Amino acid sequence: MRLKDKVAIITGSAAGIGESAAELFVREGARVLLADRNGEGVAQVAERLGPNAAAIAVDVSRSDEVKRMVECAVERFGRLDILANNAGYGIPGTVVNTEEDAWDALMAVNLKGVFLCCKHAIPVMAAQGGGTIVNTASNVATVGIFDRAAYVASKGGVAALTKAMALDHAEQNIRVNCVAPGVTWSSYFDRMVAGHPDPESFKAKLKARSPINRWAQPVEIANAILWLASDEASFATGAMFTVDGGMSA
Ligand code: NAI
Repeated sequence: MRLKDKVAIITGSAAGIGESAAELFVREGARVLLADRNGEGVAQVAERLGPNAAAIAVDVSRSDEVKRMVECAVERFGRLDILANNAGYGIPGTVVNTEEDAWDALMAVNLKGVFLCCKHAIPVMAAQGGGTIVNTASNVATVGIFDRAAYVASKGGVAALTKAMALDHAEQNIRVNCVAPGVTWSSYFDRMVAGHPDPESFKAKLKARSPINRWAQPVEIANAILWLASDEASFATGAMFTVDGGMSA
């Protein structure tokens, strides 16, 4: 019971890494508010996880909805100890062929979404004496990847924001870290491959960069989120925990 009596919000928890993290968190004793733009999907996951899970439909790029999400966690479970900012998505494109609207929309979710969730959650954590935040960045924040310029920039922003918040809120007993996953088999990955003009060569190119020679399963990333969120990581703040099968080694 590594999260006994903790209350958590996990964004982007209707599928993939976030869904897997929600399962682990509940199993380890936390009460979890699952938040996702896909309201129906996240409600189904919460239902499956039982009475220590609740669901809310939230678009993390909308301040009013994020505010309501934080209020909902406190109303339902009485406090807020852990925020896992995991919602995000990718789009293909170099800077030349990425449309400006698509750039803005992606930044609004992947980077501004983290900002908004933290903006509303940190005062609650500070008032109750502390808490912890785990952001899902990506190993591309440090090594880059071809044809994903907006996504790479957004995840670089998440990694940098993690450090800024760790410094700003250490005195309030709030730890802020991020995980940097490598290629992970999820609906995100399926969409990324399907959207590519030559899916097979794209997959081969990605695999060639992975020394372990396979993709991660979502639970292999969720385990890192769990550790950073738990008191076992009590001296870790401002850190990026890379879990990428050696891709960036
Ligand atoms: P996924 O697509 O399976 O799950 C992402 C979830 O986020 C979905 O349920 C989606 O509805 C939700 N979401 C998207 N936009 C949202 C918004 N505006 N508000 C609320 N929820 C929203 O993807 P996956 O792979 O589980 O991704 C989770 C995180 O991990 C993302 O931040 C992604 O960028 C990151 N990541 C994924 C990698 C991969 O290879 N799958 C590698 C590195 C990082």
